[in-house]
Amino acid sequence: MNGYIDTHNHILPGLDDGPDTIKEAVEMARVAQQHGITKIIATPHHNDYHCPSRQEILATLELLTSALKKEAVPVEIYPGNELRIALDLPEQLKSGEVLSLAHSKYILLEFPFDGVPLFAEDIIFRLRLDGWIPVLAHVERIYDIQRKPDRLNKYIEMGCLTQINSNSLTGELGRASLDAGKKLLKAGQVDIMATDAHAPYRRAPDFTGALKIASKIIGQEAAQKLVRDNPAKIFT
Ligand SMILES: [Fe+2]
Repeated sequence: MNGYIDTHNHILPGLDDGPDTIKEAVEMARVAQQHGITKIIATPHHNDYHCPSRQEILATLELLTSALKKEAVPVEIYPGNELRIALDLPEQLKSGEVLSLAHSKYILLEFPFDGVPLFAEDIIFRLRLDGWIPVLAHVERIYDIQRKPDRLNKYIEMGCLTQINSNSLTGELGRASLDAGKKLLKAGQVDIMATDAHAPYRRAPDFTGALKIASKIIGQEAAQKLVRDNPAKIFT
């Protein structure tokens, strides 16, 4: 059986607030493998604080891939970005400055935690016109969505997919994210679960505990879809 696919992960070292060294990144991949993950899309931040270039991302990915080969860790890493919503995002994608998920038409799109900006709908509309499918990152962590989960419906109707973090379901990110994550699952508003891992052991690439919790809420088959069938569509 194919392994799990992690579509949101900060494994590339030295580019954002993920690991500092290749050694630590290899350890993250080892932990991911122990939790059944065989494919990781590396999604370094692209926001006001971290903004690695496309070249830096692809070069670091190459270094990590050869280190994993050398260490015999059978996890494949693909390029991507976690893209903070911005007015010029459609242009940045068009010029290729920023990366989609594994060179597909899917992009990982992040709203600020403290609220969805007023221009979000306009930008999503433009992204959809350009053929992109936004995967909304960790929707359960966004204050406006925690308060009013129905706000997600308009983005879903516009063609967005939604992603929650595994460590929200295990409670690592606090009560509000845990409650919102469960509520969104119950309402059928979640397409993908990802780890959003930043390190090997804390905020780790770990699906095991979260899959048990998700299975209790939506059943085992539906929970598996969040980490297998749905993310696999990015690769087709
Ligand atoms: Fe992230």
